[in-house]
Amino acid sequence: MDRNVATVDVIAERPCSMDISIIAIANQKGGVGKTTTAINLSACLAERRKKVLLIDLDPQANATSGLGVEQISGRSMYPVLLGESSITEFIQPTDIRRLDLLPGEVDLAGAEVDIARTEHYLHPFKNALAPLSNNGQYDFIIVDCPPSLGILTMNALTASHGIIIPIQCEYYALEGLSVMTRLVRQLRDSGANPKLHISGIVMTMYDMRTNLSQQVVQEVATHFGDRIFETLIPRSVRLSEAPSFGRPIIQYDGNCTGSVAYRNLAKEFLQRQVMSMTSERGEGPNISQRETVQDPIDHKTHPGHPKSPTADMHESSAEPLHQPVSEPAEHSEEQGQE
Ligand SMILES: Nc1ncnc2c1ncn2[C@@H]1O[C@H](COP(=O)(O)OP(=O)(O)OP(=O)(O)O)[C@@H](O)[C@H]1O
Ligand SMILES: [Mg+2]
Repeated sequence: MDRNVATVDVIAERPCSMDISIIAIANQKGGVGKTTTAINLSACLAERRKKVLLIDLDPQANATSGLGVEQISGRSMYPVLLGESSITEFIQPTDIRRLDLLPGEVDLAGAEVDIARTEHYLHPFKNALAPLSNNGQYDFIIVDCPPSLGILTMNALTASHGIIIPIQCEYYALEGLSVMTRLVRQLRDSGANPKLHISGIVMTMYDMRTNLSQQVVQEVATHFGDRIFETLIPRSVRLSEAPSFGRPIIQYDGNCTGSVAYRNLAKEFLQRQVMSMTSERGEGPNISQRETVQDPIDHKTHPGHPKSPTADMHESSAEPLHQPVSEPAEHSEEQGQE
C-alpha cells in the first residue's frame, strides 16, 4: 500500500475540522453516473461522520427521488438563485444521519433562463451558498449537476472548490472529458473560480469481464494519470435498483459490490482531500506529484480494440479493482438475480 495514502487515511478519520468543501459532480454527458455518484458518495461520507448537504441542481431531480424525497413545486434552488429565499428554507433532513438534501424539481429548468438575464450570471449559486460557508454546519456540499454545460452547471462550477467527473466505461468516454477539463481551466484562468480543481475522475459502470471497460480505463489513465480515482465503480444491478426504492446503496444492500465501491470511493476522496489541503499548506506532496497510479488493468488481457460499446448488463464480478486499501472482496453478490 502507498505509505502516503496510509498516513493520510488516519488524518481523514479524525473529526472533521476543515473548512467546508463544495464539490460539483459534473459531466455534460448524460447517463454517466453523476446522480448515482452524488447520492452514494454523499451517503458514504455521512456514514464516515461527515456532515453533508446534497444539492440537487438538476431539473430532472433524480437525486431527490433517489433519496426517496418528493418533488414539490417551488421547493428547490430556484427561488434561492433568484434571491427570493434563503437556502436554509429548503434544506431538509434525509433518512440518513448527517445527510441533508436541498431538493430539485422540474421548475429549476426555468432558472437557466432567469439567471441568464442577470448581469452576474455565474454567481447566484455561489452567493446563495454564502450563509452555509464555514459555519460548521456542513463539512461537504455535494452538487448534482444536470447533463449540460448550461447556466446551472456553470454556477455550480463557479462556486465549487472541486469537481468530480464521472465517466462511464464506454467507447466515447474521453470526448466529454476534454471539454470538462478545458472548462475547468477556463474558469480558473478567467478568474471566475481561481481555486477550482479536478478532485478526481471516477470510472463508472466498470465491467471487469469486458475488454472495453479495461481499455477505457487504460485510455483515460494514459491521459489523466492519477486524477482518476483508483476505486472503480462496477456495473451493478443493485446500484441501478436502489433509486427506485429511494435509498442509497449502503441502505439498500450494504454488502453488495456497489456499496463496497462507493465506500471505498468516499475513503479515497477523503484521503485526496487531506493530501490536497496538506499540499496547499506546503506540508506534503501534492496529489499530482504523487506517483502515478499503478496501471489499473492487465494489459495482457486486451487482444483487440472493440469498435462499439457493448451493452453488457450482466453484473461484473464484484471486487472493485485496484483499490488503494483492501476491503473484503465479494464475488458472490447478486448472483442469480438476473
Ligand atoms: N454502476 C452502475 N451500475 C449499473 N447501473 C448504473 C450504475 N451507475 C448508474 N447506473 C444507472 O445508469 C443510469 C444513469 O445513471 P445516473 O442517473 O446516475 O447518471 P447521470 O449522469 O446522473 O444521468 P443524467 O445525465 O441524466 O443526469 C441510471 O439508470 C442508473 O441507475
Ligand atoms: Mg443525473
